[in-house]
Order: sequence, then C-alpha cells, then structure tokens
Amino acid sequence: RIDPTKIKMVPYNGMMMPQTYEHPEVYLPKVKNLQLRDSDVMLSTYPKSGTHWLWRVLDMLVHGSAEYGDRVIDNTVLDFMPTEVIDKAESPRILLTHLPFDLLPEKLKDGRVKVVHVYRHPKAVLVSLFFQMMKVGHIPDMTLETLMNMMASGKAPMKSQSYYFDTVQEYEKSNPNVSIFHLAYEDMKEDPVSSIKKLAAHLNVEASDELCSQIAEAVTFNNQKKEEEKRAPADQNAMNFYRKGEASGWKNHLTVAQSERMDQMMRERAPTCPFFRRYCS
Ligand code: A3P
Repeated sequence: RIDPTKIKMVPYNGMMMPQTYEHPEVYLPKVKNLQLRDSDVMLSTYPKSGTHWLWRVLDMLVHGSAEYGDRVIDNTVLDFMPTEVIDKAESPRILLTHLPFDLLPEKLKDGRVKVVHVYRHPKAVLVSLFFQMMKVGHIPDMTLETLMNMMASGKAPMKSQSYYFDTVQEYEKSNPNVSIFHLAYEDMKEDPVSSIKKLAAHLNVEASDELCSQIAEAVTFNNQKKEEEKRAPADQNAMNFYRKGEASGWKNHLTVAQSERMDQMMRERAPTCPFFRRYCS
C-alpha cells in the first residue's frame, strides 16, 4: 500500500502534482479516460478539507450501514492509484481526488455520477497542511509563513486552494449537467445529521433518520480516530489525517499579520468566489 503522506510531488504544467507509480504526464491522460459507473460517487476536495472524514460518511451511505467495513480509502484515489486498480474496485466506488476539476474524467460530464465537493476555511486548511508537512518532513525547516507563501505563489500541492476553487467554479459553469453538492467542513461539524441527510438525498440513496444519526455518531472525530487506528497499517503515517478535527483551531496558530494576509486574499477573491465569501470577516 502507498503511504499518501510520503508521496513525491513533481512539477507538472505549473503545478506540484503527486507521482507514485507513474509521472503525471502518464497517468493524467488515463484518469481523463477512466470508465465511470453510474453507481460511482466522486469525492473531490482540496487537501486537508476533511477528505478522510467524508470518505467514511459516503462509504457508509452507499453501503447503507454505519459499520466500518473493510473497504480501504486508497484503492480508488485518482491522484495516485493506477487506473488498472481503480477499474477493478468493487461497486459502489467512492472515487476520491484532489485533482483540479479540469483534470477529472471526461465521462463525468454526462452527469450520471454524483459529485461531492467538500471545502473548508482556507486558514484551517493552511494550518492543517502545515502540521501534516511538518510531521512527515516533506520540506526541511518548514514554517507556517513559508507554506503561506507557497500557497500564495502556487507552489503548494495542486497549486493553491484558490486555483482549485477556480477550477470547481469554471467546471460547474461549463458543464451544467454535472451534479455537484458543495459541503462546507464547518456545516458538517455544526450539524452532521442534517448534512448527512442532504448528502443521502444528493446521492439518491435511501437513508432513514436513524441511519443518518448512527453514521453521524460513528464518524465523530474521536470515534473515527479510534476506529481508523485499529485499521491503520503500523508502518505508515495513516493517523496523520486525524489531528484535532476542529472548525476554529487555526486561531491558535496564525499570527495577526498572517491572519490579515489571508483575509485580504479572501476579500479580493470573494466577489467572484462563493467559497471564499462565507469566510470573509
Ligand atoms: P486538522 O488538521 O485541522 O485536525 P484530509 O482528510 O482532507 O487530509 O483532512 C484532514 C483534516 O480533517 C484534519 O484537520 C483532521 O483532523 C480532520 N478530520 C479527520 N477526521 C475528522 C472527523 N471525523 N471530524 C472532524 N474532522 C476530521
């Protein structure tokens, strides 16, 4: 199995992209041509926006059970799993990706596959990514300031969160058939049961109120962390994806100047980007 926290990032088309088995030049065209199934669900996020959390929720919803099954997240990750492996995964599949929308499979455009896009406060994403990068030692002497500069100049993974948001918006505008549900991490945190009900409605799966409550309980931060720990391979950093799980924890880590710089960036982008609008103070 691949340890996602140790994946090498390589330059591709002005972006830093993951390289595992193959160079992005080789695997991205295969991703474009990936055969989709009507029962697939596409979970797309900018890194650190709650991917692992929502993967569990969607996996439980499509299987109609709040039990932790034996499915593993890595088998269907478009960004680093060979398409031959993804092709063999059992239905229903939760296809998972951090790829900008314009790189996603062409077949998505016919609107048969449901897409769930999870987004999160950019300051929380910055802090979360910083702690992950520090832990795995991707970049020596990394500071929050360095990471913020990398994000501002498009040198962070997948360029930057704002570039990612641009691709989401552009994609939705030019592909009106595509069915995307946008979920904010903070809304899921605030009211998980009603968020799960909305997700079920979007996926068109039957989910009783009881099941939605059971799923919400199964994936509270503490419960999920405990369950994933039991399943985490001992030699990997799999548990780095469960750090604090808070909506506003970033406030303890950014200086006033850093926070203001992020505010400024969001205010500049807010008029044309709804994902920034809700986070502007
Ligand atoms: P923090 O670093 O702020 O704690 P991703 O899966 O996209 O890499 O996102 C990881 C972030 O989601 C981490 O944020 C992690 O703690 C948080 N997270 C993981 N599971 C969660 C859960 N069940 N509830 C809330 N947050 C969760």
